[in-house]
Amino acid sequence: MANTGTNPGGRGTPAWELLAGVATAAPRRRGRELQAGLRDAVRSGRLAGGTRLPASRELAADLGVSRGLVTRAYEQLTAEGYLRSGRGAGTWVCEIARPAGAPAGDGDGRGGEPVADFRPGTPDLALFPRAAWAAAHRRALAALPHRGLGYPDPRGLPELRRALAALLARRRGVVVDADRLLVCSGVAQALTLLGVVLRGRGPVAVEAPGSPPHEELFTAAGTGTVRVPVDGSGLVLRELAASGARAAVVTPAHQFPTGIVYPPARRRELLAWARELDGLLVEDDYDGEFRFDRAPVGALQGLDPERVAYTGSVSKSLAPGLRLGWLVVPERLLGEVVERKRLMDLGHPVLDQALFADFVASGEYDRQLRRCQRAYRERRDALVAALAEWCPGAAVTGIAAGLHAIVTLPERFGPQERFLARAAAAGVALRPLTDFGGTAPADGRVRLVLGYAHLGPGAIRRAMRLLSRAAGESSGAPRVTKGAFPA
Ligand SMILES: Cc1ncc(COP(=O)(O)O)c(C=O)c1O
Repeated sequence: MANTGTNPGGRGTPAWELLAGVATAAPRRRGRELQAGLRDAVRSGRLAGGTRLPASRELAADLGVSRGLVTRAYEQLTAEGYLRSGRGAGTWVCEIARPAGAPAGDGDGRGGEPVADFRPGTPDLALFPRAAWAAAHRRALAALPHRGLGYPDPRGLPELRRALAALLARRRGVVVDADRLLVCSGVAQALTLLGVVLRGRGPVAVEAPGSPPHEELFTAAGTGTVRVPVDGSGLVLRELAASGARAAVVTPAHQFPTGIVYPPARRRELLAWARELDGLLVEDDYDGEFRFDRAPVGALQGLDPERVAYTGSVSKSLAPGLRLGWLVVPERLLGEVVERKRLMDLGHPVLDQALFADFVASGEYDRQLRRCQRAYRERRDALVAALAEWCPGAAVTGIAAGLHAIVTLPERFGPQERFLARAAAAGVALRPLTDFGGTAPADGRVRLVLGYAHLGPGAIRRAMRLLSRAAGESSGAPRVTKGAFPA
């Protein structure tokens, strides 16, 4: 465009980038989208007061909409006080008051909710089985005797521990006795409990790149942490041995975020390292249930239950807001961990436990896992297909599993900073791999951790189209390559 919305103050983003979603909206919604986009941009400060907007003809040509649509939007926003017409030609952005403390732009680049959110971490909360959950709640409450409402065993209700032990043995190959299993508030509390118990025994090694809460939780619990690089097979043993750590937290079924699986040789090496140092491996099995190309690989814990503490939760399979998880610990740590749990909260809420025990024992949890597996497999396929259509040359790496994928964009999408700014301006929320620690790859290509599970196939396609347009792409020949995560 000849005049991309001049930015006299040097602030703001060219208008066409802020409004990239308009052209992809249904024709009858375009006027509203354009007005809302402009209003948002002024409110958030992305279009700074004093900015001259492009002529209506130019903006219309850039957005691929009629000139009348742009003229009407300018008139409407002028009437509302967001824009003003200058003497002679030209439309200018007015200075408007923003609420005290409100930043100019809120990080998604548009001053509002992102249009498309690819940030990883959340399952599809609409898949939460409300009816089955409510029925389990009713049954659990009816069956709970009055004395069952007292303080619970800090390990958890025996019926839930038994149900979970059977489930984890059957589905994940965990070697577990109900007495060794502790019910807790998600993986987060499991790591905090272990962190407190491991205090004073040296730093805990965390994967780099890895899950930021691993580092944060162990640090908050008072153990130091040390980042150890991950290669195409998991934690690098040489670096781990040199780190001074005697404990390490790992995601062997589906490394977060790179998406690789720890192969048998690396599993054996890790266990040998832990045995030699009288150390501990902490296995975070956060999404190990969801594998789309074959049966999930069993838990590392099954190979040596005395060297591996195993943890998981319902945060990916049901909802993170339930704050419900489990921890299986080696015999030597059991007493201390249970006592820490007791001191932390006097036990997990009983009704939640009774309900979940019913939910697991009645087979509803297995049903939910199958339902999620089908939905997430379909969404991953939709993501791969949309990439092929809208970002030809993009490479999807890591195994077909879980709720996110690593996507390496072709060189032409770089540099990363510019690409992310354009995506944010178009309302697409993204997390690059560099947000998760580890060294930036030498090839300089943009690598994204794309969460897809919470988006339907249609939303995935729309978001990818938006992203591709924001990056200045026009659709090319369908082509997507697969490869291993680079070491
Ligand atoms: C690597 C990893 N571990 C664990 C969790 C879940 O933690 P919690 O069970 O405390 O919700 C997540 C959630 O996003 C995660 O990404």
